[in-house]
Amino acid sequence: MTSGERMVASFLRVNQAGELGAVRIYQGQHAVLGKGRHGTLLAHMAGQEQRHLDTFSRLIAERGVRPTALSPLWHVAGFVLGAGTALMGERAAMACTVAVEEAIDAHYAGQAARLGEDEAELKATIEEFRTEELEHRDIGLANGAEQAPAYPVLSAAIKSGCRLAIWLSERV
Ligand SMILES: [Fe+2]
Ligand SMILES: [Fe+2]
Repeated sequence: MTSGERMVASFLRVNQAGELGAVRIYQGQHAVLGKGRHGTLLAHMAGQEQRHLDTFSRLIAERGVRPTALSPLWHVAGFVLGAGTALMGERAAMACTVAVEEAIDAHYAGQAARLGEDEAELKATIEEFRTEELEHRDIGLANGAEQAPAYPVLSAAIKSGCRLAIWLSERV
C-alpha cells in the first residue's frame, strides 16, 4: 500500500465511524424529543447522516478497507450522547449538534485539503457532506444551542470527545 492509499484508507475508516456516531446521536435525540416541536428536524438530520454513513460503508467495501473495530462503541456512545443531551433539554440537544458538527466540519475540511486530483470524486463527496454538516450546525444555532445551560462547558466537553473519537477511529 502506498502512503496515499494508507491515508485514504484511514479517511474512509474514520468517516464511516463518525457518520455511524452521527446517525446514532440523532436517533438518540429523536428517541427523546421525536414527538416534540423538533421531531421533524431531528428525523431530517438523522436521514442525512444515514446517507453519509451508507456512502462511506459502500466506499469501504469497494476499496477493501478494514472498518474500525470500534463500531460497537460508537453505536452506543452516539446514542447515549444524543439521548443524554436531549434529556437535558431541547437547547442542550442543539448545543450537542453544534459542537459535533463544528468538529466534523474541521475534520472534513482537513481531509479535503489533503486530497489531490487523483481523488477528486472522494474530495467532492466529502465537500458535499461538509455542506450538510454546516447546515446541521446552523439548525442548532437557530434553535437555541447557545442558550443551553452551561453552553461553553458542554460544548468544549463534546468537542474534546469528538476529537478523541476521531483520533481513535483513524487508528483502531
Ligand atoms: Fe454526516
Ligand atoms: Fe451532520
